[in-house]
Parts: sequence; structure tokens; C-alpha cells
Amino acid sequence: KKYKIAVVNGDGIGNEIVPAGISVLETVAKKYDFEIETQEFSWGAGYYLQHGEFMPENGLETLQSFDAIYFGAVGLPEVDDTLPAKDYTFKVRTEFQQYVNYRPVKLFSGIQSPLRDKTKKDIDFVIIRENNEGEFVQNGKIMHPDTPNGLAIDTSIVTRKGVERIAHFAFKLARKRDKKVTNVTKSNTLIYSLGFWDQVMGEVAAQYPDVEYNKMYVDNASASFVLKPEVFDVIVTTNMIGDILSDLGGAIMGSLGLGGSGNINPEKEFPSMFEPIHGSAPDIAGQNTANPIGQIWSAAIMLEHLGETKAAQNIVAGIEHTTAKGNLTKDLRGTATTKDVATSVISFIESE
Ligand code: NAI
Ligand code: MG
Repeated sequence: KKYKIAVVNGDGIGNEIVPAGISVLETVAKKYDFEIETQEFSWGAGYYLQHGEFMPENGLETLQSFDAIYFGAVGLPEVDDTLPAKDYTFKVRTEFQQYVNYRPVKLFSGIQSPLRDKTKKDIDFVIIRENNEGEFVQNGKIMHPDTPNGLAIDTSIVTRKGVERIAHFAFKLARKRDKKVTNVTKSNTLIYSLGFWDQVMGEVAAQYPDVEYNKMYVDNASASFVLKPEVFDVIVTTNMIGDILSDLGGAIMGSLGLGGSGNINPEKEFPSMFEPIHGSAPDIAGQNTANPIGQIWSAAIMLEHLGETKAAQNIVAGIEHTTAKGNLTKDLRGTATTKDVATSVISFIESE
């Protein structure tokens, strides 16, 4: 079997961690007897500086013919930071109906969570972030900004269809895990958009009587991430809340650099996109010290989506082996380089 993968390194550490992830993918493909055919696209903020756009006009059309997109992150300090999401990330996520942002949180062996008394059993849940609507639809305007009457509006959009599809995904996932869904919102203050979200979520929850269903407000959920992460199994939440909580999830895993994710179109009508939860980290770019684990984990999530479950599990086992051995990058107070970590995952996969 052959998979066509579009590779978009993006900017900053993307140029270091994506090649690390590809080297792991190629190793696991050889072992499990499938082919990965990659094609690179040098899009992002760097591309913008040369061409005035983040990707060519026919970029989406080009991506359409691939089985999946393997992505790093986009954004550079010298480029207007209102552009990357609008011109690349959200464009791909929305146009390809990648309405599920799947972001697992777990404690790998050998890593000390900043929550010192918490174990692997306590920190093991998934954030399902609604990825196409909500606070991030970028529907708004700024009016007469340079006058005393300056005014700005962002409209948040919640649709029945949007909530139903993310809800069903979350409840089905919970059935394969610990059968527990926590709906995280702020519907006591965003009473229209998130009040409606809660109503529809509750209707779907009633169709899964075998799954325990709870609601939690995001302020309480933030505290619970730190104080009692063990209460979570599957979190279903809005675009912005999911974005914020996933960095907190990365932090309790030990580093932002550990978090992998998938922007998934479950119906497979369009390619899905797999990327770490963090950004392009320009502050550490070019030093070969970035943690590639989130990027490598994203490769596993991609293979799972493509149906190569054993290969996916083998990559996660390789990550566990690497962290357990203490092959850690600077963000985890280690001395390993980006390449060292990839090499360690690869030698585990090859040795088994
Ligand atoms: P960031 O996630 O890039 O970095 C935050 C902090 O975490 C930095 O100190 C960075 O060094 C560290 N960090 C992140 N990933 C790491 C890794 N793999 N290994 C070690 N340390 C790591 O977030 P920031 O600084 O807010 O944004 C930087 C740029 O990235 C901006 O232009 C932003 O717009 C963009 N960005 C892009 C995203 C995407 O393409 N999906 C997502 C988030 C941010
Ligand atoms: Mg984010």
C-alpha cells in the first residue's frame, strides 16, 4: 500500500522537527511494509516574504490529491501574525472540513510532570477541539480605530450541524476509551453561542446512555487540569477553549514540545492534516534543540487515521522507549538534540 503525503515544514523549528518525523515515518513504513511517498511544499511565512502569500493560489487544489498533510507550524516574528491562521492553518482546516482537532494528553515514561504527584494513570485524556467554527471563524471588523469611538467585533458562530458532528465524534471516541465525556464551555457568560452548544451537546449525549456525560466551565477546567487531571477522559470543547487548554495539556505532559495532534475530516472526503500543538518557536529555531516528539507523535496519529494502526502504536512505543531512557531535549532539561531523539525512536523501531 502506498500513501501520498504532502509535507509542509512551515517556519522556524518546523524545518528541524518535520524532517525528524519523516525519518521515523520512513523507518516504520519499511518495517510494516507500506510506502510513504512524500512531496514537500515550502509554504508559510518565509514563503510569504518572497511571494506575498502563504501558499500559492491553487495550494488547496494541490493538497487535495494527497492522502494526508504532514505539517510543522507557520509564523515568523517579521511577518504580521494575523496572517498565518487566516492564510494557511485555518484555511486548510476549514476548506477540508477538518472539524475535529484531536489532541491527546498523556504522560510519557521517564518524564516528570510539573504536577509532581501525578502519574501516567492520572494524566491520560484527549481534548477534542471543534476546529471549524466558534470563536475563530474570523468574522468581524474594526471600525474607526484611530478615533475615540474605535470599536472592534469578532463574531463567534455555533451551528447545530457543527456541534452535532463534533459531539458524535467525542462520544464514539469515549466508547473506545473510559466512556466519559466532559463538555467544557463558558455557557454561563456566553449565553447565546455556548448556551446553544450545551443544548445540542446534551441532545447528543442522550443518544449515548452508556457514556458518562458532564459539563464543566473552562475556568474550573483550567484549575482541574492542574489539580485533578485524572477526572478527564474525553474533553469536547470549542475552538478557542480547546486551543488554550491544549497548551495547558502540553505543559502538564512536561513540555509544549510533546503534544501531537490531528486536524481530522472523519469522513475522509478531504485530506486530514497532522501537526504538533505548538507553533514555530522562532526563539529556538536553527539550534537543533527543538523537541521533535510532538511532531513524531503527530505522525503516529496520521498513520492511525490512515489505518496503519500497528505502525502507529510502534511509533508511540518508540517515543516511550526514548523518554524512558532519558533521551530528552533542552525543554525537558536534557542534552539530546532534535536528531538524537529521532535516532533513538528509529533505533527502537528497527531493533524490535
Ligand atoms: P510556540 O508554541 O511557537 O512557542 C511557545 C514556547 O514553547 C517557546 O518558548 C518555544 O521555544 C517553546 N516550544 C514550542 N515548541 C517547542 C518544541 N518542539 N521544543 C522545545 N520548545 C518548544 O508559540 P508562540 O511563541 O506563541 O508562537 C510562535 C509563532 O508560531 C507565532 O508566529 C505563532 O503565530 C505561530 N503559531 C503557529 C501555529 C501553527 O502553525 N499551527 C500554532 C501556534 C503558534
Ligand atoms: Mg495553539
